[in-house]
Amino acid sequence: MSGSMELKSSSAPVLTVQHATKRFGPVLALDDVDIQACAGEVLALLGDNGAGKSTMIKCISGVHQLDEGEICLNGVPTAIRSPGNAREAGIETVYQDLALFDNLTPSQNFYAGRELSYPAWLPLGLRFMKSREMERVTAEVLNRLRVILPKPDATVALMSGGQRQAVAVARATVFARKLVILDEPTAALGLREARKVLDLIAQLRDEGNAVILITHNMEHVTELASRAIVLRQGRKVGELLPTKENQQELVSMIVGA
Ligand SMILES: Nc1ncnc2c1ncn2[C@@H]1O[C@H](COP(=O)(O)OP(=O)(O)O)[C@@H](O)[C@H]1O
Ligand SMILES: [Mg+2]
Repeated sequence: MSGSMELKSSSAPVLTVQHATKRFGPVLALDDVDIQACAGEVLALLGDNGAGKSTMIKCISGVHQLDEGEICLNGVPTAIRSPGNAREAGIETVYQDLALFDNLTPSQNFYAGRELSYPAWLPLGLRFMKSREMERVTAEVLNRLRVILPKPDATVALMSGGQRQAVAVARATVFARKLVILDEPTAALGLREARKVLDLIAQLRDEGNAVILITHNMEHVTELASRAIVLRQGRKVGELLPTKENQQELVSMIVGA
């Protein structure tokens, strides 16, 4: 990608969240938080356990609704009422709890809820599934990511944590169109698997997606993120450009030292 294209894309805010507030009963999980993510950048969303990171991305992905605040996509206020809504709007999310269907194969997981089918003139329920096509794409992507599965048609229940995580990230790369959100995508991975996922994240960014990365790994933050936002107890407590030099400052912000 040329320098000028990068410059152009990195100035466009794909996502703007303003005054995000979310309560769960007495718990104020998000308290008036603003975040922004631009095309062609990785934004690190950081914070200790319970800081509100997952809540924030679940509100953006339509799993939860904000109590107060506004979400804009490409500058347009957008109501995201369900995960389906979010996907239609071009938002792909890899959840911390992975959200794979245990009883389905990788290919069925890839296309769950958005199966390829034909002929187009029939109502969805009466169409034939393009199973071969879906299996082919899935195998191709997993192969590209060098995810080696014992049996491609086995359900994901039989996979290791790392394999499952790889399948979830791979799925996001196939459908990413605008914004990709990854909630601790390397948490369950060994060094080599984590490396693959980091490379994928860089690739998603270079393809012009805005990427939001939640992680506890500061090395990964300095490697990939052009901006870091720190949450603590539901509030935004800092925003900075992460470098090797200010890594300690960032950690202090996270733990509130
Ligand atoms: N579905 C829920 N019901 C009740 N409380 C929740 C729910 N989800 C999150 N919380 C609470 O909201 C706060 C923020 O949680 P979370 O967003 O998961 O934090 P993080 O992802 O930063 O670890 C925590 O106090 C957590 O217990
Ligand atoms: Mg979380």
